[in-house]
Amino acid sequence: MKPLLLPLFPPPLLAPLAAALPGETGAVELGRFPDGDAHVRIDCEVSGREVVIVGDLSDGDAKFLPLVFLARTARELGARTVGLVAPYLPYLRQDQRFHPGEAISGRLFLSLLNGEFDWLVTVEPHLHRIGALDEILTIPATAVAAAPALAGWIQSQVSAPLLVGPDAESARWVEQVAAVAKAPWTVMEKTRLGDRTVEIRAPDLARWRERTPVLVDDIISTGRTLVVAARKLMEAGFPPPAVAVVHGLCVADAWDEIREAGIVQLAACNTVDRAERSIDVAPLVAAAVREHLGGA
Ligand code: R5P
Repeated sequence: MKPLLLPLFPPPLLAPLAAALPGETGAVELGRFPDGDAHVRIDCEVSGREVVIVGDLSDGDAKFLPLVFLARTARELGARTVGLVAPYLPYLRQDQRFHPGEAISGRLFLSLLNGEFDWLVTVEPHLHRIGALDEILTIPATAVAAAPALAGWIQSQVSAPLLVGPDAESARWVEQVAAVAKAPWTVMEKTRLGDRTVEIRAPDLARWRERTPVLVDDIISTGRTLVVAARKLMEAGFPPPAVAVVHGLCVADAWDEIREAGIVQLAACNTVDRAERSIDVAPLVAAAVREHLGGA
């Protein structure tokens, strides 16, 4: 029997993902009782099926409980397996106890996925102090690399690019993107002073003065990192940088602030349901899902 996609908080990549996979897409109803409790209903036959739940888990607090209700209900109704495609994994930036008494929510969140799903596919999870998903996950998991998609966008949009990561943490994916795009790369040095306050120092960029900088990062949240990094590049004599990111969460007025900083060329992947998502990672995600479905 062909796999069944069940969308819950569908990410923008749902349609191209469904088109790239052999299964069909089922219907899930998500409502609220008058007191606010979630009401979840599967409106299709799941018995004997390989179920693939597909969800945008950004802003995850309100989504996680309905997600668990859906996964458990699919099992109760006879699903053969229940996998999760969560293109963006929330909480992972809280990967240590930065202050006494804090919850290490990245670790806790990952551990909650164990036992609920048979497998997980995600895209470019923020792995820093947690080195790999399988440090915590006991289920099979694939972290899809977005590098080929980001590099494709850069190659088609920017001539003579210089890839710049805004902080040391970004080195891992900036290097991967640069290898595919065949472009030089470097990273800046960032100190985070608060949720919306960062300081960034640029390395000596003089030898790349003829190139167009492209800021590459995994997440835009408040946008402060990109705005401050762009200003540093312009102070160093470069034109406004292009921006290629994986997950454009962009809380509040982040897009506006980024545009006001002079950035006009900007693209994010279609992992979360926000304004800019022109880089399609569905083919990469579909390839990973097929492996968990036994090559379907
Ligand atoms: C940092 O760890 C991430 O890679 C991003 O640089 C960060 O999440 C961006 O946050 P914001 O947009 O709030 O500066």
